[in-house]
Amino acid sequence: MTLQGNVALVTGASRGIGAAIAKALAARGAAVAVNYFGSEAAARAVVDEIIAAGGRAMAVRADARDRAQVEAMAATVRSQLGPIGLLVLNASIGFPMTGILDYPWEGFEAKLTGELGAAFHGCRAVVPQMLERKGGSIVAITSGLARNPGWGFVAHSSAKAGLEGFVRALAYELGPMGIRVNAVAPGLTLTDATAQIPEQHKQAAANHTPLRRNGRAEDIAEAVVGILEAGFVTGATIPVNGGGYVF
Ligand SMILES: NC(=O)c1ccc[n+]([C@@H]2O[C@H](COP(=O)([O-])OP(=O)(O)OC[C@H]3O[C@@H](n4cnc5c(N)ncnc54)[C@H](OP(=O)(O)O)[C@@H]3O)[C@@H](O)[C@H]2O)c1
Repeated sequence: MTLQGNVALVTGASRGIGAAIAKALAARGAAVAVNYFGSEAAARAVVDEIIAAGGRAMAVRADARDRAQVEAMAATVRSQLGPIGLLVLNASIGFPMTGILDYPWEGFEAKLTGELGAAFHGCRAVVPQMLERKGGSIVAITSGLARNPGWGFVAHSSAKAGLEGFVRALAYELGPMGIRVNAVAPGLTLTDATAQIPEQHKQAAANHTPLRRNGRAEDIAEAVVGILEAGFVTGATIPVNGGGYVF
């Protein structure tokens, strides 16, 4: 799978890990659609940075949880950049953080349908374009919390574990059509999503990690680029966590 000249759609690419993935893909010669939901200015800044560096990019708004919006986004990207060959399912779907006895069912349900809906709608909209190209590569951003529990993360762990099952099911089904599907599971990574975590906790996570630091968005992007390219890897979940398996 060559990135040069390919077309990538990265969901939730206005900030954090998604923004780093968009820039990394553009640096390797892919034309990149930078999806955003609420942060238009940030998405445009990512696009401007890519274009200033000599790359090709566009910003496109859609709520990744909404089927009609995702289908319209895929059609817009196709008409402006060409058929999509690379899809990164990264949009961050929020969730309440509390113990199971207080957990609001509505919050649990919204996380599950949001996370899995975003993956379902993204693939349903983009896979036909990949078939036109006679191949493609999909990476879903899951989480170490899919396998290693943390207090308050019941919805997140459940949704990300579901996403890993989705990845394996699609890898099985789409492999014969030349489409690979993998998951990248970050550990604690320094983005807006983790900005509220106390410094002490971040340090503890780093101390539990053989590489003795927290992840950076660029670390995750580097792994995503590698797995998008790796032609004989499918149905895999790649932990990107500095060797730390707790966070
Ligand atoms: N940070 C970590 O420690 C960590 C660890 C494991 C896994 N992850 C996973 O990595 C992914 C990225 O997380 P992050 O830390 O980079 O988060 P972040 O810095 O909070 O950024 C979240 C991104 O998701 C977008 N987004 C939110 N809701 C959306 C929606 N409904 N439709 C489309 N886009 C939406 C945001 O767009 P707008 O701002 O435009 O709304 C933003 O670009 C997530 O899937 C997260 O679960 C993160």
